[in-house]
Amino acid sequence: MLIDVLPSAGSPWMPALKNKVAVVIDVFRATSTMVTAFSNGCRAIIPVLTTEEALERRTNEPGYLLGGERRALPIEGFDVGNSPYDYVTEKVGGKTIIMTTTNGTRAIHAVAEARQVWIASFLNAGSVVDAINQYIRKNSEIDGIVIICAGSEDRFDIPDTLCAGMLVDMLGKDMESNDLGRAAQMLYNISKDRLHETLSMSEHGRLLQSIGYEKDVSYCAQPNILSITPVLEDGVVIARTEII
Ligand code: MLT
Repeated sequence: MLIDVLPSAGSPWMPALKNKVAVVIDVFRATSTMVTAFSNGCRAIIPVLTTEEALERRTNEPGYLLGGERRALPIEGFDVGNSPYDYVTEKVGGKTIIMTTTNGTRAIHAVAEARQVWIASFLNAGSVVDAINQYIRKNSEIDGIVIICAGSEDRFDIPDTLCAGMLVDMLGKDMESNDLGRAAQMLYNISKDRLHETLSMSEHGRLLQSIGYEKDVSYCAQPNILSITPVLEDGVVIARTEII
């Protein structure tokens, strides 16, 4: 089976998605934050592209929370930003969150047509790989895996590429990958023992640190601390507990 790794949410090339499993990665910080929200009891996340759409959807559902960022900062009038530390149980437990972020929610929309879409980050990488392997065993029509890195405003970024490399590495020897997948795996293998340092030195890592989110950088750099496997179902992200 072939794994295609795509460099950013705005990737100009997109394989046919119909029988593919897709994985969305936005280490800094959308997918790390989503995984954390589910781990803290959030019920569902509705990823949308614009702040206007988020506000409009909330007018019909006043009990939903609004979350997300622009330029990595909380959006005025929203209930939570895009820091995983905002998504504590007291705020998000039992809640549905309408979320918009610069790259992460856009990457989810870019692969929404895939047969199954998983949400991954370093935090839950191992659990997502196990879930994908189980899903592929049960669904013989799946003919490939697409890993989309959210990247940074249509550009490659190191954090997402490293996480893609970790997934490629864990998905194993029976899979082949495109050249970006192989490059990501090589990069991961030479950086895995100093993951935090490598992520801190990335452009996005430096940006987050410069505006006071050092803790987010350290938090998002922790591999396999959460066994949460969120999937996109009918435009809504939920935490899947059973593979079907
Ligand atoms: C994004 O979607 O671009 C990010 O999650 C930005 C961030 O909040 O760090």
